[in-house]
Amino acid sequence: MAGTGAFAEIVDGDVFKYYADGEWKKSSSGKSVGIVNPSTRKTHYKVQACTQEEVNKVMETAKAAQKSWAKTPLWKRAELLHKAAAILKEHKSPIAEALVKEIAKPAKDSVTEVVRSGDLISYCAEEGVRLLGQGTFLVSDSFPGNERTKYCLTSKIPLGVVLAIPPFNYPVNLAVSKIAPALIAGNSLVLKPPTQGAVACLHMVHCFHLANFPKGLISCITGRGSEIGDFLTMHPGVNCISFTGGDTGIAISKKAGMIPLQMELGGKDACIVLEDADLGLVAANIIKGGFSYSGQRCTAVKVVLVMESVADALVEAVKAKVAKLTVGAPEEDCDITPVVSESSANFIEGLVMDARDKGATFCQEYKREGNLIWPLLLDKVRPDMRIAWEEPFGPVLPVIRIGSVEEGIHHCNASNFGLQGCVFTKDINKAMLISDAMESGTVQINSAPARGPDHFPFQGIKDSGIGSQGITNSINMMTKVKSTVINLPTPSYTMG
Ligand code: G3P
Repeated sequence: MAGTGAFAEIVDGDVFKYYADGEWKKSSSGKSVGIVNPSTRKTHYKVQACTQEEVNKVMETAKAAQKSWAKTPLWKRAELLHKAAAILKEHKSPIAEALVKEIAKPAKDSVTEVVRSGDLISYCAEEGVRLLGQGTFLVSDSFPGNERTKYCLTSKIPLGVVLAIPPFNYPVNLAVSKIAPALIAGNSLVLKPPTQGAVACLHMVHCFHLANFPKGLISCITGRGSEIGDFLTMHPGVNCISFTGGDTGIAISKKAGMIPLQMELGGKDACIVLEDADLGLVAANIIKGGFSYSGQRCTAVKVVLVMESVADALVEAVKAKVAKLTVGAPEEDCDITPVVSESSANFIEGLVMDARDKGATFCQEYKREGNLIWPLLLDKVRPDMRIAWEEPFGPVLPVIRIGSVEEGIHHCNASNFGLQGCVFTKDINKAMLISDAMESGTVQINSAPARGPDHFPFQGIKDSGIGSQGITNSINMMTKVKSTVINLPTPSYTMG
């Protein structure tokens, strides 16, 4: 059970502590922040409401700890990460339980998130050893006007303190996808978890504590965004921010100092379906892509653009599969579970009502109880409807019927987002042309969008983000290149 056994020390009464300087602490504020269970809509957990003074202290210790961590051999950093990964997997049950209660993620998916996170940490340790274990050697005489009098040695060095801000939908996985690359590269790490997902994050951080990482190297600070949000992201002690979430990322990018930013801010992933597509395959991928975790994934299929000639058949096939989705409690591992908050459910409902008022065809009856929204396929959606452009982050999927492939590409590219997209066709030549034409960070051919496997590059263009993620790219992003140039008094040529 969460907060018991190996995790007993992370909780005080009914409030979870924050983690700083290698210890679990109570905030001097004496205040806590409640975490509402999306299913019951009642406060389920409480976390510390940390103060700006506590943020300052964490930044100081993070800076000091990074200095000695950067001198820790790479193989030792990797060894500790492997240890943390093993401990995390060993304790998957209480962490998954927290995910079920805080974000209503279905029970099995919650376990998968924790296991996937352990795998990600281990892969990152391996990749870091290879990537950071080598640099480059350049000679000067390849550039016009130079003789071979200069040898340039480059290596990758840490940035300093990395601030990691993961979102509610993958609080553990999208936290470790920032923590592991930062640490293997020799950085220290300050984690600000989302409020919903904070308890799962605190458990995950305790696994790093149990693995005996040096004091102060990792901190986890909880609290209200209004109190410590801007204070953290604008803190002069932060040398890099890795953020996943919504529009807040745009605000952060405008306020942050001259530091590297890695941002993933959502998407409106288009699924383009051609006449020759295998409609059974498309329908299965629309269900998986559009309705997994009730559509609360940045990479969810968020608009289907289907050729008119096959639209009726596809809509029927998807409708048949929607009817089989189970709706209910995350504890019972239902496919569709309550969305994260009441305001989120209200927002989704607003999009549905707008589509209804403007004449969309409802393939199912719209049904909502509290935060639980039944899966809904909206056919014959037109571009004047909000759902054609906005991201519901819920189990509601619009279908737009198109007369040509160009029309589909045009709709995809007119979006402010550009995270992923997918195209279904048996013609690989057409698929390549469409993929090249789509303004998206990734295009999947004959499968739904997805971030994983976690070592693949993951990036958005336009409002979907800054930079590229995936294990290798994140390690690179959290380092700087350092050069040392050896100047020789006379040209020297190998074997010359
Ligand atoms: O931020 C990315 C997340 O929302 C989607 O990840 O693994 O479900 O494709 P995934």
